[in-house]
Amino acid sequence: YTEETLYRPNFHFTPKENWMNDPNGMFFLNDTYHLFFQYYPEGNKWGPMHWGHATSKDLITWTENPIALYPDELGYIFSGSAVVDLKNTSGFGDGTTPPIVAIFTHHDPIKERKGLIDFENQSIAYSIDEGKTWIKYANNPVLKNPGIKNFRDPKVVWDEDHQQWVMALAADDRTKFYSSKNLKEWAFISDFGNDIGAHGGVWECPDFFPMQSENSNETKWILLQSLNPGGPNGGSATQYFIGDFDGKTFKLDEDFKKQLDLKKAIWLDHGMDNYASVTWNNANGKNPISIGWMSNWLYAQDVPTETWRSSMTLPRELKLNKTENGFLICSEPVDQLENYYSDKITKEDIEFKEKTVLIDGKTIDLTKSVIDIKLTNLTADAYTFTLSNTIGNNLKFGLDNIEKYLFIDRQSSGLTNFSEAFGKHVTKAPLTKEYQEARIKIILDKTSIELFFNNGQEVLTEIFFPNEPFDKLTIESSRKEAKISTLNANKLNINNN
Ligand code: FRU
Repeated sequence: YTEETLYRPNFHFTPKENWMNDPNGMFFLNDTYHLFFQYYPEGNKWGPMHWGHATSKDLITWTENPIALYPDELGYIFSGSAVVDLKNTSGFGDGTTPPIVAIFTHHDPIKERKGLIDFENQSIAYSIDEGKTWIKYANNPVLKNPGIKNFRDPKVVWDEDHQQWVMALAADDRTKFYSSKNLKEWAFISDFGNDIGAHGGVWECPDFFPMQSENSNETKWILLQSLNPGGPNGGSATQYFIGDFDGKTFKLDEDFKKQLDLKKAIWLDHGMDNYASVTWNNANGKNPISIGWMSNWLYAQDVPTETWRSSMTLPRELKLNKTENGFLICSEPVDQLENYYSDKITKEDIEFKEKTVLIDGKTIDLTKSVIDIKLTNLTADAYTFTLSNTIGNNLKFGLDNIEKYLFIDRQSSGLTNFSEAFGKHVTKAPLTKEYQEARIKIILDKTSIELFFNNGQEVLTEIFFPNEPFDKLTIESSRKEAKISTLNANKLNINNN
């Protein structure tokens, strides 16, 4: 095997070469999804940041384009967002097409080295050719550092109710909100979060947007707020908050607050490899679409690929569900993935005890597949799925219905010793009850598993590096009552990279 055949993902966006981290500036216009990303074109570790660029018609198959933004005398181009300025509020438009305005952090490495504190400032650039070429605004920065060391990652949204642009910005231990009428002048409006949620590290890469509930008529504002470190299973991760926004302050929903008091933090994904998740601007569908960086700052620079380093998660549709405990966000893979389903296997009423083989060898290619399993008659027991190969690597995942958690165990999944922090423990997502029935849907690529539990109520995303591809899926449990009522497996007919 070569690095390409063994590890280059089949359908998760991955740059051809070199280092990538956070997704940035995503927008949708004229049938095209744009994805920008933190990129260092001269090496496979983090370095002076640029914005790389990729486009897709369906969020699944991607084309990498020339670099969009280069560092300049104000600094590196750190994370940020982009908006389609439909009303030309910025005046950057030429009257024919709406300008795209990117809002990003200029990170000045010289000031940083000198030990100054104000080395992160917010700047803008615009494009009048749908994101192909960019012009940096002459009066950058547009939002100056007020004396806060970590002051970055602006995410901007149009607030229709108050006819204003709103920026969420990460500032040390909190989110700061600013408003603007023209994307050039920004006024501080409020702070959120220094006394609530997870604070094991610095807050980074916020996202803030309104969202309509699936099963009530309510609209709520959602704040996604990544932090590093301090994730539920170590390192970097994304938590979220649900509340209301009056044009100035973000106030938590009462039921959500109760959940937070119980759980301390509520996570978008419990796996170790979904960071800096943010949503597309102007995507026009009912629900927001998010994407995250499929790695973790604990080991991202050491993962065993040399040509490129890291991929994005699969894009996901976020859904706001009202449950008996209040609102909750569910994430599901975008529907467009189903257009690539082929070679379907369906099985029903599978009884299992010790080890039961569910998918073997060449029937479904487990390096590009979707497997959707419904379990019934569950009792208090552990249900362990194992992906394995002929040389003894294995990746375990499943439901522990006794201790009440979902898990992924990559301790014996292949290469793990490239980092002290990789594959040293079982990743867990706590559950609040024992389940009689459960649905586990997994999306497999060569080096990743994305596990969606009960329609995305819980999600676990993780990467792994087997020495040979996995080609077998088994299930085991000690109880005989439980069974799989249906199993649907689909090969994905995609070869993206
Ligand atoms: C998050 C982050 C951002 C920053 C960028 C730099 O992963 O640290 O806060 O803008 O990466 O590449």
